Amino acid sequence: MRFKRKIAREIRILKQGSRYIETHGYIQHGNTSVYAHSVKVAALSCLIAYKLGLKVDYITMIRGALLHDYFLYDWHDRRAHEGWHGFRHPRKAWLNAKEEFALNRIEEDIILKHMFPLVPFVPRYKESWIVCIADKISALIETFSDIKTFFGKKLVMEVK
Ligand SMILES: [Fe+2]
Ligand SMILES: [Fe+2]
Repeated sequence: MRFKRKIAREIRILKQGSRYIETHGYIQHGNTSVYAHSVKVAALSCLIAYKLGLKVDYITMIRGALLHDYFLYDWHDRRAHEGWHGFRHPRKAWLNAKEEFALNRIEEDIILKHMFPLVPFVPRYKESWIVCIADKISALIETFSDIKTFFGKKLVMEVK
């Protein structure tokens, strides 16, 4: 897929002089790291835009997707963050991303509003809507595959 190269290029750029590498170390859903989740969301966003024939700024959409969960803490650890992660992390991701990268207004919108409708901020741009939807789909798949793994292991244990 031709988007793979674009995504790989943006990852290389983001990794320079930043904490982006740390996203490998945090788990998002199931067994999936924040890094793997973010790359999946970027790829799925490209696929959705391409299949629907939507005119989008692909680089901006990829960067927004790669940074949408740039909160940089273990959200499973209650001591690592304040308040409810689901509500708070878009703002934390935005603050972290703004510190290290020059974001355009669409990238900021993608990061801040990707948790709609859980947070009451409606995405403003096509790119933000696409990433918001791709994020939900990826989260479902990652969580579901973890449930499958869990029950798979449980079944194996029962057979033994
Ligand atoms: Fe998120
Ligand atoms: Fe996400």
